[in-house]
Amino acid sequence: MRSVKVRVPAKINLALHVGAARADGYHQLATVFHAIDIHDEITATASHDGAVNVEVVDILGKPMPHVPSDRTNLAAQAALLLRDRLAEPDLGVHLRIRKAIPVAGGMAGGSADAAGALLACNDVWRGGLTRRELDTLAAVLGSDVPFLLHGGNALGTGRGEQVTPVLSRSTFHWVLGVYAEGMSTPAVYAEFDRLSEGRGKNTPDEPHGVLAALGSGDPEALAGAMRNDLTDAALSLRPELARGLDVGSARPPLTGLLSGSGPTTVFLMPDSESAEVFSVDLRDQGIFDGVVVAEGPAAGARVVG
Ligand code: C5P
Repeated sequence: MRSVKVRVPAKINLALHVGAARADGYHQLATVFHAIDIHDEITATASHDGAVNVEVVDILGKPMPHVPSDRTNLAAQAALLLRDRLAEPDLGVHLRIRKAIPVAGGMAGGSADAAGALLACNDVWRGGLTRRELDTLAAVLGSDVPFLLHGGNALGTGRGEQVTPVLSRSTFHWVLGVYAEGMSTPAVYAEFDRLSEGRGKNTPDEPHGVLAALGSGDPEALAGAMRNDLTDAALSLRPELARGLDVGSARPPLTGLLSGSGPTTVFLMPDSESAEVFSVDLRDQGIFDGVVVAEGPAAGARVVG
């Protein structure tokens, strides 16, 4: 049986500017996505029995029973969507997902697996779809999925699915504070609507400051420009997240912000050495369930074996 392995990165949002809810319930966004070097790995093994199966393991290879392995898993939906597009109902696949991206953490872990599954199945089934054709399917699966095919940095508009690549001059250094308990993205957006009482801006602000900082490569300028409009909504649902955002240190970060709808908190550091020092300090403080050092931008989904 043919098998391929795909690596796909996590994303954080350097800017998440949220407009009012649209008629379809989604929110108009102006976001800047940034892929970081925390990766899920998807191994796709083809079959001809029409069965689509998903197996989810952690980085040590242990099963993760709390992550769905049925057709509600976005990676399974990606395989089914691609098979429909190829109009070959006998195609089957076993998808083994090795997860390093926190689950329900605001880092698009499920969307990453969907992007990885699209790329892996297109390869293992010899589907022959172009990147542009895969983009169209990705947008059907979720707002973040097209970006995870691309990686790097990108401006996301529409509901986030319209991505325009943005170059950056340097590598940025991050420390991530991860919580064991995730948050529901729809619940955070619903809380955003409740707090803004329908008075949200129709057109979200353009993230000029973040785009300029990416162009100059200056982490201090980036820190000054980063903004997440879902912060108040996430804090309203989980007030204890404030502790992680206000954390102090002898080697302080340039800024700390929630990623996406949270709860993962991302700290921008001036360089790799201060990221290592701050990560040790943060672990000692015991606020987070996990602390991870990362760099970005990272490449999007790609076949590695
Ligand atoms: O697109 P995706 O399925 O990842 O979005 C998950 C949920 O997040 C949506 O069902 C919606 O509640 C919310 N969302 C939103 N506006 C966006 C993106 C997501 O309201 N632009």
